[in-house]
Formats: sequence, C-alpha cells, structure tokens
Amino acid sequence: MRLSSLYVAAMAVYQVCGLILPQPGSAKYEDLAAKDRYLRALHSRAVNPTLEQERANAVKDAFVFAWNGYFSTCKGQDELEPVTNTCNNPRNNWGASAVDALSTALVMEIQDIVTDILDYIPTIDFTTSATQVSLFETTIRYLAGMLSGYALLREEILTVTGSTPNIEALLTQSQSLAGSLSFAFDTPTGIPSNNIYLNNRTTDGETVNSLATIGSLVLEWQHLSDITGNATYGALAQKAESYLLNPEPTYNEPFPGLVGSEVNISNGVFLDATGGWNGGDDSFYEYLIKMYVYDSSRFSNYRDRWVLAADSTMKYLASHPSSRPDLTFLASYVNTTFVNASEHLTCFDGGNFLLGGSVLDRQDYIDFGLALVNGCHDTYTSTLTGIGPETFSWNTSGVDSSNQFFYEKNGFYITNPLYDLRPEVMESYYYAYRITGNTLYQDWAWDAFVAINATTRVGNGFSEVSDVNAVNGGSFGSLQESFLFAEVMKYSYLIHAPDAPFQVSNDYQNKWVFNTEAHPLIVAGPPV
Ligand SMILES: *[C@@H]1O[C@H](CO)[C@@H](O)[C@H](O)[C@H]1NC(C)=O
Ligand SMILES: *[C@@H]1O[C@H](CO)[C@@H](O)[C@H](O)[C@H]1NC(C)=O
Ligand SMILES: *[C@@H]1O[C@H](CO)[C@@H](O)[C@H](O)[C@H]1NC(C)=O
Ligand SMILES: *[C@@H]1O[C@H](CO)[C@@H](O)[C@H](O)[C@H]1NC(C)=O
Ligand SMILES: *[C@@H]1O[C@H](CO)[C@@H](O)[C@H](O)[C@H]1NC(C)=O
Ligand SMILES: *[C@@H]1O[C@H](CO)[C@@H](O)[C@H](O)[C@H]1NC(C)=O
Ligand SMILES: *[C@@H]1O[C@H](CO)[C@@H](O)[C@H](O)[C@H]1NC(C)=O
Repeated sequence: MRLSSLYVAAMAVYQVCGLILPQPGSAKYEDLAAKDRYLRALHSRAVNPTLEQERANAVKDAFVFAWNGYFSTCKGQDELEPVTNTCNNPRNNWGASAVDALSTALVMEIQDIVTDILDYIPTIDFTTSATQVSLFETTIRYLAGMLSGYALLREEILTVTGSTPNIEALLTQSQSLAGSLSFAFDTPTGIPSNNIYLNNRTTDGETVNSLATIGSLVLEWQHLSDITGNATYGALAQKAESYLLNPEPTYNEPFPGLVGSEVNISNGVFLDATGGWNGGDDSFYEYLIKMYVYDSSRFSNYRDRWVLAADSTMKYLASHPSSRPDLTFLASYVNTTFVNASEHLTCFDGGNFLLGGSVLDRQDYIDFGLALVNGCHDTYTSTLTGIGPETFSWNTSGVDSSNQFFYEKNGFYITNPLYDLRPEVMESYYYAYRITGNTLYQDWAWDAFVAINATTRVGNGFSEVSDVNAVNGGSFGSLQESFLFAEVMKYSYLIHAPDAPFQVSNDYQNKWVFNTEAHPLIVAGPPV
C-alpha cells in the first residue's frame, strides 16, 4: 500500500468521526506526526550508492547540455531563449546565466565550465548597465554567485587545473558590483530603492519597497563585509533590515512575527497587513533563520523573529483543504482574514522549516516542514506532466464545474498552470533528504527531475511551459531563467551527490548556508 493512501485512510477516520484536525503541539498531532514518520520510514528504500551516482550523473549531463546551449550562443548575455535559439537580457545584460552557473559547476566539479566562467567574470563591467537594475535580483544572482564561487575555490572544493584561475577577481568584481549598487540605500531611512539606474544613479521613483526585496540582501552584503573587512556593506543591509525586525505600526503585524508586505521608504513604516510566505514576502522569512546559521553569535535576534513567525505560521496559516484534510498548505492573510491560495514559490517553506527545526533541535518544526513538503509533492503528482503549477487554490468559493473533480481528488485546483523552471519543490526535497536521511525524498526529486527534463527540454536548453496539466506541458514559452543553472540543477544534483562540507548537515555542523538562489556561502560563526 502506498504511504499516501495509508495516511489518507488514517485522516479519513478523523473526518468520519467528525473530529477537527489536530493542531501542532496537541497530543493528537504528536500521534499523527509519529505515525506519519513511521509510514515514511516504511517507504524508505535502502541507501543505494550506485543508483545515486547514476542519478547524479544524469543531472550533470543535463546541466552540461544546457550550459553548452547557453554559452555557445549567448556568451556575455543573460539567457538563452531555447525555442528560437536567440538571447535575451532581462538581468542587466551582464551574463546572468554564467554567473549563476558557477557554484553549480563547482559542486559538480566540471573543470572546463568553471574555467570558462572564471575567464568570463573579470570582463564584466559592473559599473554600467543599459537597463534598469533590480537590487534584489542582482544581489541574489550576481553578488551571491561570485561570493559563492570565491568561497568554494578558496576552500579548495575544486582545484582548477591548467592556467591559473583568477580567483581574486571574483572578490574585486563583487566589490565593484556592491560599490555600484550601494547608492540604492541612500534614502531618508536607509531602506533601499529596489529599481535603480547605474548610468545616472537614479531610481524609478518608487516610494515603497517590499518585504522580500528589502529582507533578502543582508546575507550577501554582510558576507562581503566579513571577507573584505569593509563594514559598510553589511551595515547598509542591516540598517534596512532593522525596520523589518522591529515592525511599525503594530497593527501591520497581524500575527506575532508575521508582517505586511510593503514598506514606506521615507519613514520605514509598514503600509499594509497583507502577507504570508508567498512571492514578495518569502525570502524575508527564509533569511531570518539563515542569518542565524550564518552566525549564531551575531544574529540571534534574527532567529528570535523566525521562531515567532514559524510558531504563528503553524498556529494560524496551516491549512488543510476540505477535500483532502491529509494535506497541509500555507494560507496567506489580508489583515486577519485568511486566503486559501498558494504558489510554487511558496514551496521553499518546507525546506526552511526543516532547516530551522534541524538547527534549533525542534522536532515540531521538522514534522511541520515534512507536512509542507508532502503537500507540495502532491501539486506535482496530481498533474499530467508530474510538475506543479505556478499558483493554486483550495478556496471552496472558487470551486465550480470546471475544477470540482480535480479539487475533490487532489485537494487544490490550478489557478495558473505555467511552469517556468522554478526550483522550490526540489529545494525542499533536498532539505528533507539531508535532514531526515529518508531516501523517499531522493525518489521524489528524481521523479520531478525526470518530469522537468521530459517536459521542458527543447532546442539547446530548457523552456518555460504554459500548462503543467496538459499533454507535453501545453506550449513552450521562451524563458530559460538563470535559476535553472543555479537552483534546479544544483538541488537535483546535490540530493544524490556524496556528502561534502557544503552540503546541508543535520548534526549542527553547517559550515555553509545557501542563499535564496542556492549559492552556498561559508558561514562566519560557529557551525549550528
Ligand atoms: C567600503 O565600501 C564602500 C561601498 O562600496 C565604499 O564607498 C568605501 O570606500 C569602502 N571603504 C573602504 C575603506 O574601502
Ligand atoms: C536615468 O536613466 C534612465 C535610463 O537610462 C532613464 O530612464 C531615466 O529617466 C534617467 N533619470 C534621470 C533623472 O535622468
Ligand atoms: C511615506 O512616508 C512619508 C514621510 O513620512 C509620507 O509623506 C508619505 O505620505 C508616506 N507614504 C505613504 C504611501 O504612506
Ligand atoms: C486592514 O486593517 C486596517 C487597519 O486595521 C484597515 O485600515 C484596512 O482597511 C484593513 N484592510 C483590509 C483589506 O481589510
Ligand atoms: C475565497 O474567495 C472569495 C471570493 O474570491 C474571497 O472573497 C474569500 O476571501 C476567499 N477566502 C479564502 C479563505 O480564501
Ligand atoms: C479555507 O481553508 C480552511 C481550512 O484550513 C477551511 O476551514 C475554510 O473553510 C476554507 N475557506 C474557504 C473559503 O475555502
Ligand atoms: C533527458 O532528456 C534527454 C533527451 O530526451 C534524454 O536523453 C535523457 O536521458 C533524459 N534524462 C533523464 C534523467 O531523464
């Protein structure tokens, strides 16, 4: 019998008896969590190094294929458009895919790709861009990509042979980039403007910035300070973050630790109480616990805010669809009203709870993380392609004849069927495997990878597809986001790869922490 059907049967007993679903922390919840762990352990197969190596090699092959497609046609530009074999430049036209691919090529130990990227990076001029620059996207992709490459090479994860690689250029280029971007923080509060122009050092004039774009800079900027000794970078990001850690006004923190989405750049005040773990808010919560992993001695207040948010999330946002109460998704909120809708982007949540549970030694966070991973897994297994949709809902008011059957069966219905090579489900499988050691999650990751490879591969790369619940994914779009290289390929590979210092650890020995683009950065404080 499949694990999920056993579990559904267990949950059905609760429903039939008219019992309300047990809440985390209650004795009944503990029983169920224990039962769930037991059922998962039953499914777990024996560790199989040969199988793991085959899978890791297959992912590597796909990475090399996509790299060759990109680099042969679009070297120096941001992305390949695989359907037309043309290039596009939505990321400042600095070669985003190359910088985003570096840390993956390093952990895969692919010498020639690493060399190509190391030769390319010193040629980028980070002082100018013809297009608008996003501080957030540029930080998580370019700055983190270079800092991660620098750390991995300095730690001799891979010793590059042949011509002497210019490792130090990664650091000088990181400083050049951060120096170009730093005027964005030059506002009355120090909260940065996100959209800036480097040529004339102006902004798009926007008077607000959002939670995730303010709150997902501090890891990269602090790390740059720590390795250069120039305290300015970290101080800028920490000043901006201070408004998020001490939110005002209190009514825009509708649940302890869970805040609104938009912040006034002029006075640091939250403008709404709308939020949750969806896109726009997501990586703010992600970075709270990651800052603690980065340095537990300096960033314990970030941990405290994460714990507050995590406890409120379990208490208030955990939501079980009426048709499938065995599943757990996270609702969002508008003030204290819940919205039963979620996103592919949100599916990093399981991995983040697992990381927090592991480093804080909290089994309840781990169990809750696994429940979220399980829900996101169902968004994949419920579709024709085996890939989950961009957005979905379990709001019963939206159920009609067009989606009723799907909702009854699967516990959600699709509100946007697109897939644009997002990594979050794979990312959470990765944490689930690294923290529990259960091979079930390796199998889930492999199934997802095979589906992504079968559905999105076209021309010399991989493409966005229009409909995950249509035969062959509907039609191809033109996007091949650089996070295919940084995230999808890396998590798909590392979940099958041998243990290594940069891998997530479950024994309080995390010497590295992954930024939100999956670039591993070496921690500054004692490992947790
Ligand atoms: C530190 O970095 C800032 C931002 O790029 C720069 O303005 C400043 O000159 C640097 N300080 C030193 C001592 O290099
Ligand atoms: C700065 O440059 C951008 C793009 O080149 C342009 O759109 C914007 O209007 C300029 N701003 C000012 C104040 O000149
Ligand atoms: C943001 O704060 C400034 C300064 O206090 C104020 O003038 C402005 O109206 C505020 N903007 C919004 C949208 O509340
Ligand atoms: C949320 O609450 C604030 C004040 O408490 C109120 O002004 C606002 O209208 C509410 N927003 C919604 C969408 O209900
Ligand atoms: C469900 O959808 C209705 C109509 O769109 C909306 O008014 C309501 O707030 C939603 N409720 C939940 C819990 O999602
Ligand atoms: C939203 O989900 C909750 C279960 O967490 C359920 O009780 C509620 O009825 C749902 N609301 C709507 C409108 O679907
Ligand atoms: C990916 O697709 C290619 C082309 O169809 C195929 O040769 C390869 O075996 C596939 N890899 C996996 C892991 O399914």
